[in-house]
Amino acid sequence: MDPIIVTGAALVEAALLDDTLVPPDPPPNLEPGETRDLRQRMARFSPPETHSHRRAAVDAAAAELTVYPFAAAARDRSAAILGATDDARFDAIERLGLAVPVEVVALALGVPEPDLVGVRHDVRSIAEVIGRQQRSSPASDHATARLLQRFGGDTPAGVATVSLLYQTHDATAALFGSHLLARRRDEARRSAVAATIRCATAATMIGSTAIPRGATVSVDLDSTGFEFGVGPHACPGRAIAERIVAGMLDAIDAVDFELCVDDVEWQPDGRPRTLPMTRVGERS
Ligand code: HEM
Repeated sequence: MDPIIVTGAALVEAALLDDTLVPPDPPPNLEPGETRDLRQRMARFSPPETHSHRRAAVDAAAAELTVYPFAAAARDRSAAILGATDDARFDAIERLGLAVPVEVVALALGVPEPDLVGVRHDVRSIAEVIGRQQRSSPASDHATARLLQRFGGDTPAGVATVSLLYQTHDATAALFGSHLLARRRDEARRSAVAATIRCATAATMIGSTAIPRGATVSVDLDSTGFEFGVGPHACPGRAIAERIVAGMLDAIDAVDFELCVDDVEWQPDGRPRTLPMTRVGERS
């Protein structure tokens, strides 16, 4: 059955505040194992019964980080990557977007510099499975186990901290990309996140639309101004993400690279998959 699409700010807010609409069960790509168990214990995917205490652990983990200088750290790390790049052309999403935010959050969590790349690879491994629906594997299960072991073990605090890194990975790359693209094209920025999915545990009404029990609902975050969600699951990392992206954009502004809009590869939802940058003056 196709998902029921909920759009318009008032209806989106109603859907995300409706307790009968809960995050979806794990998809079939998640085989039993550590990666699946982690997803099942994340606030992000928890129904109301378990969400509030898991969310409290996430808020506590995020609160520990607020004094960290995210913008300066993201600017410096981006500048170092840009300074070290010999290529005339590179993909800003891969080289910066999927690297700098996770590394900066890991730094804020106290990860030592030599371990950053390993942590980033582990976070990517779980993001590909939990977020992008690739098959779980021994590699993603080992990545999960290593991350939990590093950040407090298999405890609510450990899961909350790994959740922060997981949520940082793809969403902050998308936020960075959406800013870069909008600035280059001189147009309004598109929301970094298109939609969030809920499943109806009981029949409910959203405005005048009847949602039957068991239906899947796609809640439109694109055109409604709720890029960071709303209600109990609203993003607790917003301020951190915005500071990181501001620092990354500062670093881009300071170098002679330019986005090649004509060469962007697109995803089916119209968002960029790659953002190729070339050194100014070296475009063929
Ligand atoms: C440092 C970066 C980030 C961190 C640490 C972070 C953390 C989180 C966490 C832990 C949740 C789950 C909250 C819960 O279910 O109670 C969440 C939800 C969410 N985040 Fe973030 N996030 C980050 C970046 C972003 C960015 C850049 C965006 C989009 C621009 C975003 C959009 C959202 C949305 C829409 C939700 C709600 C999902 C839903 O209701 O289903 N996040 N975030």
